[in-house]
Amino acid sequence: MERTFIAIKPDGVQRGLIGEIFCRFETKGFTLVGLKFMQASRELAEEHYGVHRERPFFGSLVEFITSAPVVAMVWEGDGVVAAARKMIGATNPLVSEPGTIRGDLGVNIGRNLIHGSDAVETAQSEIALWFKEEELVNWQPTLSSWIRE
Ligand code: RTP
Ligand code: MG
Repeated sequence: MERTFIAIKPDGVQRGLIGEIFCRFETKGFTLVGLKFMQASRELAEEHYGVHRERPFFGSLVEFITSAPVVAMVWEGDGVVAAARKMIGATNPLVSEPGTIRGDLGVNIGRNLIHGSDAVETAQSEIALWFKEEELVNWQPTLSSWIRE
């Protein structure tokens, strides 16, 4: 089953939006398989955003993502990687569609509340970066047959 890595960023935590954001994935019908509240180290943040290392915003991005706690999560479900990106919305919250997390809750590209893996392969490496195998829980929600055929 497909899995994705989602993180509520420091602005989402500081603004008291953990419940609001978490709820969207839970009520959608995806399955939570990993969850932790933590402050990312510089090393972890630099690795996570390594693809952006040469970009002008890299320094401020790493500074921001390590500045307060994050909620790191792994969600599971059919097509969850692409579906979560749709639920999250465009990178700049000012152009994210209303109804998306960023579109509903944010106004600034550097304070866009949430991270979601951008592809299945990226998801696999991000999950391995943020979680140990034993921190992920394999379980079958009893509601499953009411959520998917
Ligand atoms: P994320 O990785 O955090 O889920 O965001 P994303 O895929 O929508 O966007 P990405 O291109 O991966 O950029 C990572 C984060 O860097 C910040 N950013 N700032 N000032 C800028 O032009 C700029 N571009 C990107 C954003 O906070 C973005 O989430
Ligand atoms: Mg990205």
